[in-house]
Amino acid sequence: MSAVCTLKEPVSTLVKSLNLKVLESLITLSAMCKGVYMAEKTTVSVIKADIGSLAGHHIVHPDTIAAATKVLAEAKSKGLIIDFYVTNVGDDLELIMTHKKGVDAPEIHELAWNAFKEAAAVAKELGLYAAGQDLLSEAFSGNVRGLGPGVAEMEFTERPSEPIAIFMADKTEPGAFNLPIFRIFADPFNTAGLVIDPKLHDGFKFEVYDVFEGRSVILSAPEEMYDILALIGTPGRYIIRRVFRKKDDEIAAVVSVERLNLMAGRYVGKDDPVAIVRAQSGFPALGEILEPFSFPHLVAGWMRGSHHGPLMPVPQRYAKCTRFDGPPRLIGLGFQVKNGRLIGPADLFDDPAFDETRRLAQLIADYMRRHGPFMPHRLGPEEMEYTTLPSVLNKLKDRFTEVKGAIKAKEPKEKTEML
Ligand code: F6R
Ligand code: MG
Ligand code: MG
Repeated sequence: MSAVCTLKEPVSTLVKSLNLKVLESLITLSAMCKGVYMAEKTTVSVIKADIGSLAGHHIVHPDTIAAATKVLAEAKSKGLIIDFYVTNVGDDLELIMTHKKGVDAPEIHELAWNAFKEAAAVAKELGLYAAGQDLLSEAFSGNVRGLGPGVAEMEFTERPSEPIAIFMADKTEPGAFNLPIFRIFADPFNTAGLVIDPKLHDGFKFEVYDVFEGRSVILSAPEEMYDILALIGTPGRYIIRRVFRKKDDEIAAVVSVERLNLMAGRYVGKDDPVAIVRAQSGFPALGEILEPFSFPHLVAGWMRGSHHGPLMPVPQRYAKCTRFDGPPRLIGLGFQVKNGRLIGPADLFDDPAFDETRRLAQLIADYMRRHGPFMPHRLGPEEMEYTTLPSVLNKLKDRFTEVKGAIKAKEPKEKTEML
């Protein structure tokens, strides 16, 4: 949170050769170095959870939105948060908040937890489906990470005009953002600014997070582009967690990486992700940020979190999962952040420019559905590990008998724990 700077020579040596005015500046500078001076930063926190929904895992009930809104409105009136916006995509309740507390602030996480608890209580009272589903723990313990909700947070010094885009998806997983985030920040065929804008031309750094091992690696594009792709092409395991502008390490994007099933060790709904991306003036333009979503790429999720299907960008009014509990939906909301206030939102996919994407998504949905229970529509074995399939397969285990003379598969010549 503090400003960072270094002096090559000791302050005393410098002072001898300078007048008092300069000395004054040096004292200020040294105070800044000690962290006495804190840059005024704004934090945007997007925290989401499925606390129960209407008519199956379909859509959040307005009364639960109202319950969460009441909790956040009280926190705003007390000054804990500056501003907020509550919405939903499908069965996920989404809390968008701004404040000055930084990322992972216990008070903010507790506030989100309380809002979810209140909303879950209403869900229970109304008998909504899977009420309280994502709240894996009874008690709050300082941070919602690990307790069920998904979290994307970033802290930055506001530019004079600070446009951001917030993406929220249902019936898919955090790795669904790998392809579009890569294209936004590393693909010159998507983002013209990487080629023609000197402010973007140095490229971006990607933090890739391994959800199985809880470790991450920072890789730089364009130099290490192929290494980045070697990892993030496995979106069930490697997730782009954060993106930084290379020339000044300024935060550019953040994605929630919580994978509910891995935390619970069993299937508890998909890990429907959220992402925040900063736009314009040294970051990709809003249009460059939206462009990769014009391709409805295949993501894991959909029915029972067990199928590949197209990610369909929709306006807020279509943010509900119907056909085969899907297809996976994405909404995008654009805001300006001004002194912590959220100005907006603009419903980013409420535009006929995305009609063809949606039409293509429907064609892909038809095509994939015709595979029924077959891969690659149904997910592969590693992913199915966390669904209800193992309990079906376990019943068959003892019915297998050895086939005499049969050749067993050899171990691969080169093994890696990275896959
Ligand atoms: C996917 C999802 C739904 C449910 C499905 C079965 O993330 O939430 O597709 O998996 O509707 O739900 P249950 O087992 O609750 O009947
Ligand atoms: Mg649900
Ligand atoms: Mg959901």
